[in-house]
Amino acid sequence: MEKQYNVAILGATGKVGQELLRTLSERNFPIKNLKLLASSKSKDQNLKFKDELLTVEEVNNNSFKDIDIVLASSGEDIAKLYAKSAVEEGACFIDNSNAFRMDTNVPLVVPEVNGEDLKNHRGIIANPNCSTSQLVPVLKVLDDLAGLTRVIVSTYQSVSGAGKEAMEELSEQVSQWHTKMDITTKILPKQIAFNLIPHIDKFLDNGYTKEEIKVINESRKILHRPDLLITCTAVRVPVFVGHSESVTVDLKQTVSIDEVRDSLARHSLIKVIDDPLKAEYITPLEAAASDPVYVSRIRKDTSSINGFNLWVVSDNLRIGAALNTVKIAEYLIKYNLLNFSLV
Ligand SMILES: NC(=O)c1ccc[n+]([C@@H]2O[C@H](COP(=O)([O-])OP(=O)(O)OC[C@H]3O[C@@H](n4cnc5c(N)ncnc54)[C@H](OP(=O)(O)O)[C@@H]3O)[C@@H](O)[C@H]2O)c1
Repeated sequence: MEKQYNVAILGATGKVGQELLRTLSERNFPIKNLKLLASSKSKDQNLKFKDELLTVEEVNNNSFKDIDIVLASSGEDIAKLYAKSAVEEGACFIDNSNAFRMDTNVPLVVPEVNGEDLKNHRGIIANPNCSTSQLVPVLKVLDDLAGLTRVIVSTYQSVSGAGKEAMEELSEQVSQWHTKMDITTKILPKQIAFNLIPHIDKFLDNGYTKEEIKVINESRKILHRPDLLITCTAVRVPVFVGHSESVTVDLKQTVSIDEVRDSLARHSLIKVIDDPLKAEYITPLEAAASDPVYVSRIRKDTSSINGFNLWVVSDNLRIGAALNTVKIAEYLIKYNLLNFSLV
């Protein structure tokens, strides 16, 4: 019989947590016991997993005894607070937050791009930022094909990327607008309904936002290209689910548009939908609740010798978070990497 594992979801009541529950069920992950953890606010709440109702527990330092794998989506502070106790209990802690991504002892992984980095992990493994996760499979294909020399990314990020309260804020603002009430803003920095906001996470001294720097640094780490020239502008848009990216690349070697299209289409994560004359291209609404990284609008950049423009869309809660997290866990099981040394 297939071996089964004790799994905990830390942050089970959140947007990513809910998607983790769905993904574990859809992929029939080999679970012996599933423990749901969140804050005191959600204690004793019941959540459905397959045909069972499971009760959420408030997390504490003893929550991880006998757990093999923790799938964490409870934000940076909580991850920092509990990762150590989980790992000391022998659990692999796969984290969705920014807490450990750039730590040199922590692999930052999209399994189909750099799964091998999981070898020699020390218990904590980081899931990339949602905008990075959908970008790096595309960049990896192009780097392998013709060598990336420069990347320019502009993101169009949905409100679910900022959690369940940001989704509620968009809904509330739309109904406030319809009923001619004053529009209230709590979670996002400005009104998001009928607007867009070039400000995700906090501003840094160099004028970039922290979100933009995450995309830059994480892409370099995952691709093993610390030298890669890459810049990013991150924008929040009034879309519930699905992040879109306008990506411009410069390549070292000259390749044809067909070579670019065929190489992208061969990658297991990528689906190319690109026939503009038939209006065949992807939008976030169409990408939501599905697994691929979609690539459309592939065209030669007429302002550069070896440049291409692409449109990349994906469900930020899936490949950008829950699906990638579960795939990391599956990789650890498949390659017998659940046991680790703390040094
Ligand atoms: N949304 C995305 O597209 C996406 C993609 C990649 C990575 N991420 C990252 O994943 C993490 C979660 O994002 P999300 O969108 O799921 O956020 P969310 O919807 O706001 O959910 C946050 C979760 O964390 C739990 N939590 C908050 N404070 C806690 C505490 N003191 N102790 C224990 N649990 C606590 C919440 O539990 P309660 O319900 O009890 O408060 C909830 O389950 C963040 O770090 C985010 O940056 C998100």
